[in-house]
Amino acid sequence: MKPVRLAILGLGTVGGGALKLLQENAAEIKRRTGREIQITHVGTRRPRPDLELEGIKQSADLLDIVRQPDVDVVVEVMGGIHPAYEVIMEAIKHGKQVVTANKALLAEHGNELFKAAEDNAVQIAYEAAVAGGIPIIKVIREGLAANHIEWLAGIINGTGNFILTEMREKGRAFDDVLKEAQELGYAEADPTFDVEGIDAAHKLTILASCAFGIPLQFDKVYTEGISKITAQDVKYAEDLGFRIKHLGIARRAEKGIELRVHPTLIPDEQLIANVNGVKNAVLVQANAVGPTLYYGAGAGAGPTASAVVADVIDIVRDISYTEDGAGTIPQLAFEALTNVPILSREEMTTGYYIRLNAEDQTGVLADVTTILSRAGISIDAIMQQSRLKDLIPIVILTDPIVESKMDDALAQIQALPAIRGEIVRIRLESLDS
Ligand code: HSE
Repeated sequence: MKPVRLAILGLGTVGGGALKLLQENAAEIKRRTGREIQITHVGTRRPRPDLELEGIKQSADLLDIVRQPDVDVVVEVMGGIHPAYEVIMEAIKHGKQVVTANKALLAEHGNELFKAAEDNAVQIAYEAAVAGGIPIIKVIREGLAANHIEWLAGIINGTGNFILTEMREKGRAFDDVLKEAQELGYAEADPTFDVEGIDAAHKLTILASCAFGIPLQFDKVYTEGISKITAQDVKYAEDLGFRIKHLGIARRAEKGIELRVHPTLIPDEQLIANVNGVKNAVLVQANAVGPTLYYGAGAGAGPTASAVVADVIDIVRDISYTEDGAGTIPQLAFEALTNVPILSREEMTTGYYIRLNAEDQTGVLADVTTILSRAGISIDAIMQQSRLKDLIPIVILTDPIVESKMDDALAQIQALPAIRGEIVRIRLESLDS
């Protein structure tokens, strides 16, 4: 069989890593695919003297590259929405298979891109877009294919996890840790994407679409970052047997689907509570197999290249061995997509950690607990902390409750004359199966 010809667009950390991996493991990969993979083009503006590029055409004209006849598969690893969108669309229209690591592009424009791919009978593979080296898309589409997925919860932003881990373990300040994550090369170009949960929301959008067969609905993900988490709350949570993790959660509820990214208290004995540093992990609750947990590196040249090249291998196998080259990578099957509503924040159900600062007056606690009980909110634990300045911090953990009820109750508590400052609320999940 003739070699499969590849264009790699973007020779940054991931593109360079994928090129090296394809070269270093060429014999192994050929043994697994039965076909040689030949890199014919790279799209780059910057010279990369550290890479072996002999015999590979180099150009910065990406639209021109994807129109070339000696390209079967386009690997887009440049990131950003523009011009990646236009370049991938052009590739699809020219009948090229696509591999992309671009989470923002897929989360925000994936529906259009998958539709175009379907119309042009090509595939888009996207393993590297979510949780770097963890083959979570493959797990959902193959390993768990027999199951109905009930929910999944993931630590899918390494930078956020690194920050929370350092804050808990070393009592370091937020900004200081963020700076280190940037130096380590894990953070997004715009750090708000990491700390405000946008990057995690992109990845959750893709995961939920795969797991539930729903369209990509990034704009409906409730997204809250970690920038307001204080060392005080990290400590109180720990005293109560919990860790604060920044989770992306997709859950089938009775009336629709919850898509949410927010700091979350989880019991410290849960395996996922012990995923530290820049590592990622995804816990999947599926009806036949039960809970399974996937752990590994969520970013970096090697792990992300591993996912990109695995997608290339899948595509090579598909176009070589399936009847008329039909794909096995599940695309969004538009007719089959369910139209289950995505719930608003007010309709979602979670447990809560609440911290309030009260004046030392008789009856304050009674007033607070009365408001919660009238709202039907069940208290799981209550802890009065030692006095800070003139105020007494009170921490309450609740059982799961629909958010609108918690909004009402907290508004009433906030209005009590003895309550000072803004009430802190952090969601809490037991992640029980
Ligand atoms: N900024 C991302 C992270 C990189 O920290 O997880 C990988 O997508």
